[in-house]
Amino acid sequence: MHFLRATPILGALLAQALAALVLAGLLQALLPELAGRFGIAPVIGAALVLQALLAAGLTRALGLAVWWQWIALAFPFAVALALAAGSLPAWPFGLAFLLLYLFFSNTARERVPLYLSNRATIGALRRLMAERGASCFIDLGSGLGGVVRGIAGDGRKAEGRKAEGYETAPMAFLISAILSKLTGRGQIYRRDIWSADITEADLVYVFLSPEPMPMVHDKAKREMKPGSLLVSNSFAIPGLDADEIWDLSDRRKTRLYLYAMKG
Ligand SMILES: C[S@@+](CC[C@H](N)C(=O)[O-])C[C@H]1O[C@@H](n2cnc3c(N)ncnc32)[C@H](O)[C@@H]1O
Repeated sequence: MHFLRATPILGALLAQALAALVLAGLLQALLPELAGRFGIAPVIGAALVLQALLAAGLTRALGLAVWWQWIALAFPFAVALALAAGSLPAWPFGLAFLLLYLFFSNTARERVPLYLSNRATIGALRRLMAERGASCFIDLGSGLGGVVRGIAGDGRKAEGRKAEGYETAPMAFLISAILSKLTGRGQIYRRDIWSADITEADLVYVFLSPEPMPMVHDKAKREMKPGSLLVSNSFAIPGLDADEIWDLSDRRKTRLYLYAMKG
């Protein structure tokens, strides 16, 4: 199970293969009767739906992340579409892959896709910065830079406060760097979070996934100064009690884990 979670593409393939086996057994027994009664097209449609549901259920049972369940649901229909369309040109697939890579390049490497913090979270982070009289904010894995701009745009720049983001996905970096330049709010660096300098930060924010949290903890322990704060959106550091947990009253029911750094 752990191996499949660490290599989710194998888990996803296994789920599709097991679902196909079950489906093949069912079809072998029932196909002649069902096809005779309903015609072949509705039976193929129902088989696709069943394959998708079974594969998604198995993906869930294997403990893969939620986006793999969506992939499992879509996969049978994508294959059927490609087969039905015959000789499709290859370039739309290449273009789609390139676009996905430009936004989601950290999904395969770090198991961290791109999803964004909402306004409620940015508001909570602003409150935290104000309460603690904090002057230096860093978002590790800053996505489209909304959090960095939200913190820097709180009038803090004028008080000599700074907000920085570190992002390596090419398109996310480009868009956020341009927006920061245009608005004059915050600074985005195209640098891996593991080589980012967080020694000066009063508050480091992460919204990543469960996978890198042990490494985030190691880095924070090594580099963050005493009295600073690590805030993780949704994903706790395994084996460590948070000093505070903030449950926000937004629709997403955002949970922020606050860890005070001892230095
Ligand atoms: C879930 S998004 C969060 C974006 C932003 N912090 C927010 O809350 O709106 C995580 C981001 O971290 C980036 N990321 C993941 N691993 C990274 C790494 N090793 N170095 C730089 N960025 C990384 C991903 O590309 C993605 O944009």
